[in-house]
Amino acid sequence: MGASLDPDQGALGRRLRTLVATAEMAVRMSETEPIHDIAHLGGIELLTPEPERSLWYFRNLLGMEVVQVAGPSVWLRGYGDRAASTFKLTHAASPGVGCVSWRATSEAALERRAAALEAASLGIGWSNGDFGRGRSYRFRDPDGHAMELYYDELAYVAPPELRSALKNQPQRYTGRGVGVRRTDHLALMAGDVPANRRFAQELLGFQLREQVIFEDGQREIGSWMSPNAIHHQLAYVVDREGGHGRLHHVSLWVDNRDDVLRAADILTENGIFIEAGPSKHNNSQGFYLYSYEPGGNRVEIYSGSYLVLAPDWQPVIWNEQERGTGTYWGAPLPETFLRYATPDIAAKE
Ligand SMILES: [Fe+2]
Repeated sequence: MGASLDPDQGALGRRLRTLVATAEMAVRMSETEPIHDIAHLGGIELLTPEPERSLWYFRNLLGMEVVQVAGPSVWLRGYGDRAASTFKLTHAASPGVGCVSWRATSEAALERRAAALEAASLGIGWSNGDFGRGRSYRFRDPDGHAMELYYDELAYVAPPELRSALKNQPQRYTGRGVGVRRTDHLALMAGDVPANRRFAQELLGFQLREQVIFEDGQREIGSWMSPNAIHHQLAYVVDREGGHGRLHHVSLWVDNRDDVLRAADILTENGIFIEAGPSKHNNSQGFYLYSYEPGGNRVEIYSGSYLVLAPDWQPVIWNEQERGTGTYWGAPLPETFLRYATPDIAAKE
């Protein structure tokens, strides 16, 4: 007798059922499996109408190193950054954020994300890449901020005067100024926080870490997300002034709270406006200091916080009462912290 063709009977039927079940499982997994296509924040381009004074702030006061100068831009790095550059200053008419760069986990991951962004009609196109990077895919988030993805990157090789005695450290700690170690995260303003948060979760694969939601869960004020164990590398906070594509702040990491306190002394001695801190946030537990660099952008010096390793992390949601002043202890965040962003559209009215 040959094999039964009735799918409910015999070996062929069992094989067919197994194949159908496997295909269904693959579809379910593709819909629910986390996306791990982005490794980390690769770099931030900051726009400044005061390029020389901004460079003095980042190089002399914060202790970053200049690695490249071309046209209207200067490329910088923190002493612990593996990449040649993680921070770019570009001369522009108004302050704000230029392009935010994310490093993919592989060439294949880069292609996958580019295809997904293209399909979502957010893509701009491929370029040969900025300084220190291979081919890059440029796109915009729903609010209009420019972003790009890349995989190939130039690792930093220190010149003799900047070589570290530590074999596993890309550059020596110079002790100049604040001595920031790396570019840590950024917070972007958005008119529609939920739409931009969903974009980061669904198209970039970021894990949602914390949220502030007011009015009994009806109004999403801010969402903090990350593609890796760092608590957040991207935050969206609501733009109360009705702007689009604006920057709330960029954040640079130091290893401990003492460095944040020392930064407060250094910035004050040099006439830099300190808007908030040093103090500790409730959300993220970050120990912070916010100043305005000479171009007008808000810059955070940051330490503490906590890592998230759990793949099944559930976002921590703060309501208005729990959020309070935004601080764990210390002075409340000022009103400017909720409203001021770059470019400053209120100043142009
Ligand atoms: Fe921050």
